[in-house]
Amino acid sequence: EHKSTFSTELLNWYMVSKRDLPWRRHRDPYMIWISEIMLQQTRVDTVIPYFQRFTERFPTIQALAEAPEEDVLKHWEGLGYYSRARNLQLAARQIMELYDGRMPDDVEAVAGLKGVGPYTTGAIMSIAFNRPVPAVDGNVMRVLSRYFLIEDDIMKQGTRKQMEALVRELFPEGQASHFTQAMMELGALVCTPKSPHCLTCPVMEHCAGRLAGVEETLPVKTKA
Ligand code: ADE
Repeated sequence: EHKSTFSTELLNWYMVSKRDLPWRRHRDPYMIWISEIMLQQTRVDTVIPYFQRFTERFPTIQALAEAPEEDVLKHWEGLGYYSRARNLQLAARQIMELYDGRMPDDVEAVAGLKGVGPYTTGAIMSIAFNRPVPAVDGNVMRVLSRYFLIEDDIMKQGTRKQMEALVRELFPEGQASHFTQAMMELGALVCTPKSPHCLTCPVMEHCAGRLAGVEETLPVKTKA
């Protein structure tokens, strides 16, 4: 029905439309982790050269764990939110101590890493390990609120929980990695905050927000 149409059409679109981004050339969970932390408060275009320099200087979890902190911060200079860089190194040291230097393929273990919240946990588990763990960020909430005409305030904790439950239902069998990235890609390229590109949207036909003519009013977000 509705839900499987969304997943199938979105996945088909992603396979032919996805951007060739540096972290999409890797399946190494370390690379996925670094990219997701960088992308949290920073745009893709800005992140690309930082990602390349950072992963060249610190190619492994061990290299990051053993580096002088000032060296890590130096490679973060200009990205801002420096606690992200400090937490990355602390988490790399956790992974060395607890998991023999390898990113654990375990949702609780990943969620226990320094600086890794529910979104990043879902991103690492789904993108790197192809596990059906939802990664719900602002892009994903915008896409879902429009397609399924969800008018609940996305600033409310319960709304995110509801969307995580929805994503669990939407995951196509064995395609968690592509599906998570497909939702992010749709939010970034098509289902944009202002003037969404509905005419090129792979799921426009059944988009409830569009059909109701309210796509640009979604998601509902109260001032923090
Ligand atoms: N934003 C957050 N994660 C992303 C990813 N993996 N690719 C593109 N944009 C993103």
